[in-house]
Amino acid sequence: MGHLFLVGYRGSGKSTIGHQLAERLGRQFVDTDDEIERMSGTSVKQIFEAEGEAGFRDREQVAVAECASRDGQWVIALGGGAILRAENRKTIKEHGKSIWLHGSAEALYQRIVEDSTSSTRRPDLSAGGGYEEVVEMLSQRESIYAEVAEFTVETDSLKPDQIVVEIADWVESNA
Ligand code: S3P
Repeated sequence: MGHLFLVGYRGSGKSTIGHQLAERLGRQFVDTDDEIERMSGTSVKQIFEAEGEAGFRDREQVAVAECASRDGQWVIALGGGAILRAENRKTIKEHGKSIWLHGSAEALYQRIVEDSTSSTRRPDLSAGGGYEEVVEMLSQRESIYAEVAEFTVETDSLKPDQIVVEIADWVESNA
């Protein structure tokens, strides 16, 4: 089946779920934002400030390609906007299966606000930021997440370990 790519908006739980899922499936885990920071030696927020979103997306494309080219079957958490680039969508289709961690704008916004890494990892994507940004970005991205994903989990009312079980069951029946 190749790699498992976790896609979805900020706050959907890709890193938390990804770690646990990898452990359960006996796979290795990588998060593309971690790789971007490792390769550039700086934070996502600083890259946005110095190079703009376009500069970040270029670095992200390199990181997605590098992670996808790894040997073995990894669990790979993609940054929320990685699916915006057609090259990344092609890469993930060629190298495995994608799972969409779907959430409502309310639940996602709540998790973003509660996550202490948001200030360095999640620069504003619009002039106003905040809840309105989540609503706006979801309206642009939901159809793309739906298009790339082979399997969708509704995360709003589930705990991480329940989400992991749902995905692991799906992986086992689709291996
Ligand atoms: C982004 C999401 C972030 C990070 C960057 C851009 C986006 O990743 O890649 O801030 O465009 O949605 P997470 O989804 O891991 O927060």
